Amino acid sequence: MIKGVHSTPKLASLSPNKASANDALLLVKPVPTMLDENPKLPAVSGAHVTVLLNEAVQALAIKADGTYVDGTFGRGGHSKKILEALGAQGQLIAFDKDLQAIESSKAIQDQRFIMVHGHFAGMQASLAKMGINKVDGILLDLGISSPQIDEPARGFSFRFDAPLDMRMDQTRGQTAADFIASTTEQQLAEVIKDYGEERFAKQIARAIIAERNDGRPITTTGQLAKVVASAVTRFEPGQNPATRTFQALRIHVNQELEELSLAMSQCLALLSSQGRLAVISFHSLEDRMVKQFIRAQVNRDDLPSNFPVRAADLPQPKLTPVGKSIKPSQQEIKSNPRSRSAVLRVAERTAIA
Ligand SMILES: C[S@@+](CC[C@H](N)C(=O)[O-])C[C@H]1O[C@@H](n2cnc3c(N)ncnc32)[C@H](O)[C@@H]1O
Repeated sequence: MIKGVHSTPKLASLSPNKASANDALLLVKPVPTMLDENPKLPAVSGAHVTVLLNEAVQALAIKADGTYVDGTFGRGGHSKKILEALGAQGQLIAFDKDLQAIESSKAIQDQRFIMVHGHFAGMQASLAKMGINKVDGILLDLGISSPQIDEPARGFSFRFDAPLDMRMDQTRGQTAADFIASTTEQQLAEVIKDYGEERFAKQIARAIIAERNDGRPITTTGQLAKVVASAVTRFEPGQNPATRTFQALRIHVNQELEELSLAMSQCLALLSSQGRLAVISFHSLEDRMVKQFIRAQVNRDDLPSNFPVRAADLPQPKLTPVGKSIKPSQQEIKSNPRSRSAVLRVAERTAIA
């Protein structure tokens, strides 16, 4: 298992769908995310229960006339709460890759709301097209929603046997089945190890490629779960042996860590003085990236200590952390077990000279 995650995602060169600024702009006026699909948890169907709803919106310290970004609309739980806090002059621009999320956003009939079908790593370019170059707060609630994981046809879950898709944006890019069909054993093992922190990554990759070479291409979630189970000899009690492999493929297919890295850099450029960044992550790979990113902007320790420059001339910190990380209460976890791995981190943009 890897101990650390790379601050810039290591597997970027393998990525199937490179982030592009040419996202379709869909202006519409008018439920984690489980990284682990623990079979002991009740299967929730259809609805998405927003995680850390009050905590995340409070963290944005909403100004009534401010401009805000919800980078992960989902089913709009956070977006609706942000709109409630905004005044008549406020504005919310939301993004989601998923067409079903876009469809559900049509229920929000509000002049202050703009929905964009696109990835959040394209937010700066999309906002620029709208003439917006500064915002007062950005929220990212990472991962997938309950409707995505609970709908068999999306191919995210080993609970069903369905086509192995796993794309959040089904309008573009490689499916998990396409990736498995075209990758090498070594690349596959790297993905499973790095993104799934799976100690049996090599054995799993070998088993998958052997299946493929024997004329049985892996095209369904059920097939994949079965092959993985045959290669994993030890796993956490109560956990499906395919949990980590499914997580890894999902992260790879959707370029989740690359997207996060690109988006966080853009947040620095987009946030106005005292603007807030709030990120909810659901697994340690994401959370470590968020923590390291904030820390790097707080401590400008990228220069050698004996660098011949006066302290006042050193680059100034760009972010100040706001409080400690926030986790769901026991009560929230009880009513929504899928919230249990969530961690919210908040930072504020320092004054821009
Ligand atoms: C955990 S859900 C968000 C739930 C939302 N906060 C709510 O209250 O309903 C994550 C959503 O973000 C979307 N998403 C994930 N990564 C994305 C990305 N890089 N760009 C745009 N949308 C993304 C997913 O499609 C999913 O709908």
